[in-house]
Amino acid sequence: MANGKFIVFEGIDGAGKSTQIALLKKALEAMGHTVWQTAEPTDLQTGKMLRAALAGKDERSASEMASLFVLDRIAHNKEIEKALAAGKTVICDRYYYSSLAYQGSLCDYEWVRHMNYACPDIRHPDLCVFLDLAPKDAIARITARGEATEIYENEDTLSLFRDTFHRVFATLNDRVAIVNAAPAPEVIAAEVLAAVKEIL
Ligand code: TYD
Repeated sequence: MANGKFIVFEGIDGAGKSTQIALLKKALEAMGHTVWQTAEPTDLQTGKMLRAALAGKDERSASEMASLFVLDRIAHNKEIEKALAAGKTVICDRYYYSSLAYQGSLCDYEWVRHMNYACPDIRHPDLCVFLDLAPKDAIARITARGEATEIYENEDTLSLFRDTFHRVFATLNDRVAIVNAAPAPEVIAAEVLAAVKEIL
């Protein structure tokens, strides 16, 4: 059986990843693919530690966060490898691009990049879909959701992360589709599917 493809969605908080992941999953299943949807931080022990820090319950430095995300990602890769080997298409909500953009903005970028990008147990995705949205629009969506906000969810921080995402994509050799996340969900979904079809 051929290996499945590994697709990652990225974007600043509020960019609409969840909606687009659901739409892509439905479209791929309609085409006969088996999809495994997953996310980082994971539900593993490391993911729980990360969520406590993201919620502001535990205080952690940027380098502690970067290291925890790497640990979480290495553990996650075991599950990702299994799904890919079983021929499943893996769709992951966030991956090392988030570490490069978020922790890379807050502590030494080169160190964060190397830890993730050069790690033999961290697979490079077949495609990264970046949903690009202006931070003020992202904040409006986050506020409309009415959930508790996380430590990174303010306009200045999201602006810094968005700029770093663009720098990351300009310097990495990975395949990235940068999609404007401002239009209606169906319009974005069509653009996402077109990019995904190129790698299937
Ligand atoms: P979560 O509530 O799962 O995300 P989302 O807002 O994407 O639905 O929280 C993920 C948060 O973790 C988000 O603020 C981005 C951050 N993050 C990092 O800082 N580095 C990473 O490597 C990853 C995977 C996420």
